[in-house]
Amino acid sequence: MEVLIRDSAETGCVLGAKIMASVIREKPNAVLGLATGRTPLRLYQELIRLHRNEGLDFSKVTTFNLDEYVGLPADHPQSYRFFMQENLFRHINIDLARTNVPNGTATDLHLECRSYEERIVAAGGIDIQLLGLGRNGHIGFNEPTGSLRSRTWIKILSEQTLRDNSEVFGSLESMPKHAITMGIGTILDARRCLLLAFGPAKVRAVEDMVEGPLSAICPGSALQLHPRAAIILDETSSAGLHYADHYRWVDAHKLDWQKYV
Ligand code: F6R
Repeated sequence: MEVLIRDSAETGCVLGAKIMASVIREKPNAVLGLATGRTPLRLYQELIRLHRNEGLDFSKVTTFNLDEYVGLPADHPQSYRFFMQENLFRHINIDLARTNVPNGTATDLHLECRSYEERIVAAGGIDIQLLGLGRNGHIGFNEPTGSLRSRTWIKILSEQTLRDNSEVFGSLESMPKHAITMGIGTILDARRCLLLAFGPAKVRAVEDMVEGPLSAICPGSALQLHPRAAIILDETSSAGLHYADHYRWVDAHKLDWQKYV
């Protein structure tokens, strides 16, 4: 894992956007894996700025989102399709036909999951997968104890996740308890992974993900198996890391071609 500690979520998100943008510039028809939630919001704002001010071109880009709540239609304000539309897609020149979010209202959810996997393969696989980290270590909606080789499927959300995400729903009762999510095996198939985690609520999950044993108890720890995973943290979320000085040292002594300029 490449652990990149920045002084704030702001600089971390700007770095994350720079990495995503470099993938698009190198490969204009790149396939991006996208995430929702609070963490990537600032990164998406930066991508929008790069599109407006520096001509970052999304016209040939394809996207696949990690997950969607079961039962929420695309126009529901809490659906992840709606989130993506509001926070990224409507601000850039992306072809909406190339944007993919699992359909949480599909009549045959099993078929939807299988076809999502097939669509990722047909698109040539994901070039870079953006990820956030749940307070309980989840990635996508792969909750603790789920299989580390899982594929896109319907998952039951943990009580912790329901509590963490209930704010926008007003109450826990009105929240969907199930979601379609890419599996951990699906995520690990991406050619690159880029996980962002900021703030004090993520300290324990970051510690378990980066320095804990590889374990289904912390689904994020599966990224230890990935050949090219970068983890962007801020000072607070990295506070529990025992080898933080080592990660800073490595970051400061990169060869020119390894640096993010
Ligand atoms: C979102 C997703 C989740 C979030 C995680 C962190 O698509 O898959 O794993 O990344 O729950 O959420 P925030 O960023 O709101 O702390």
